[in-house]
Amino acid sequence: MAPEATRVLVEQLARTGNPSSLHTSGRAARRVVEESREQLAAALGARPSEVLFTGGGTEADNLAVKGLFWARRTRDLRRRRILVSAVEHHAVLDPAFWMAEHASAELVLLPVDSDGVLRVDALAEELAEHADETALISVMWANNEVGALQPLSDVVALARQYGVPVHADAVQAVGQVPVDFGASGLDALTLTGHKVGGPGGAGALLARRGLELTPVQHGGGQERGVRSGTLDAALLASFATAVSSAVDGRAAFASRVGALRDELVDGVLASVPGAVLRGPRSGRLPANAHFTFGGCEGDSLLYLLDSAGVEASTGSACQAGVPRPSHVLLAMGVDELEARGALRFSLGHTSVPSDVAALLAVLPGVVERARAAGLAVVS
Ligand SMILES: Cc1ncc(COP(=O)(O)O)c(C=O)c1O
Repeated sequence: MAPEATRVLVEQLARTGNPSSLHTSGRAARRVVEESREQLAAALGARPSEVLFTGGGTEADNLAVKGLFWARRTRDLRRRRILVSAVEHHAVLDPAFWMAEHASAELVLLPVDSDGVLRVDALAEELAEHADETALISVMWANNEVGALQPLSDVVALARQYGVPVHADAVQAVGQVPVDFGASGLDALTLTGHKVGGPGGAGALLARRGLELTPVQHGGGQERGVRSGTLDAALLASFATAVSSAVDGRAAFASRVGALRDELVDGVLASVPGAVLRGPRSGRLPANAHFTFGGCEGDSLLYLLDSAGVEASTGSACQAGVPRPSHVLLAMGVDELEARGALRFSLGHTSVPSDVAALLAVLPGVVERARAAGLAVVS
């Protein structure tokens, strides 16, 4: 966590009082929550009343997909289509699949190009044919695996023509690229604390004023009645502090870490035969580098690197012990076997040139060993 976010968390943890209570301690806790709301809104070009605090990104994504669908469908029974890009995080994809299975939704996966960027022409075609049946569009601001920035202004411009609301999962974008909710024209936007140096378990959905959202979680009626549950003043104060300082420090972070990332990419491509950079060369998150190393399992690479002191991610979940290629890479048209050797490197505030050098020192040998082990047989 960012030191200032830790400091605020520790200071506020001793506080007692439910922010919804009317007594003195409750009102003091409420003040902390509302100041946090103002701080977070100011950092992201939103109004304080547009901030709905949640327990993280997954919850905000679920609220956006399900809440928007139900609100729109209730008003117009024809609106059954949920349009999401094929490279969304599971926090968007899975609620959309769930709605198709349990709530009569029709799921439309929008295709991407070979860099993982949404094909706006496909969205335009889809809307031209089915806008009247469309409940919502959800396209992420930036992809969490291959770092591709998505053409959101085109998405918003198209959606506006038909009055279809747009949600963007901006979990990866906040603190890495400029994010201004008001200027974006989006109807809803997800962010989370643990990607910006804040605590885990704190997030928010920014929801445009007047946007109808059916609650997913029912109870005490907190957060405009849309997200019930007692608010944690300490966690939210720390979250807002982290967002604010990540946004303040964004430009410096992006240029310093972006340069380090470029060094990493050039170094990997030069030293590992058969390494392929996935995602766009420019138009990607500054802290993200993603490669496939054909002929081996990403999991083997991950474990070998881990034992050499380098922590990386395959980006795809291992289901029941069987490695599965990432849906993001498959949507980009990457061959299934090639996609199994995927590895993502994420840099952060504490990354320094010696970290990149340490990776480059071990990676060629690691890939060689993983290739010697080969691919697991999947029946
Ligand atoms: C793009 C994206 N969306 C959603 C999430 C989920 O957020 P959380 O872990 O706060 O539930 C993540 C988490 O890594 C993510 O990368």
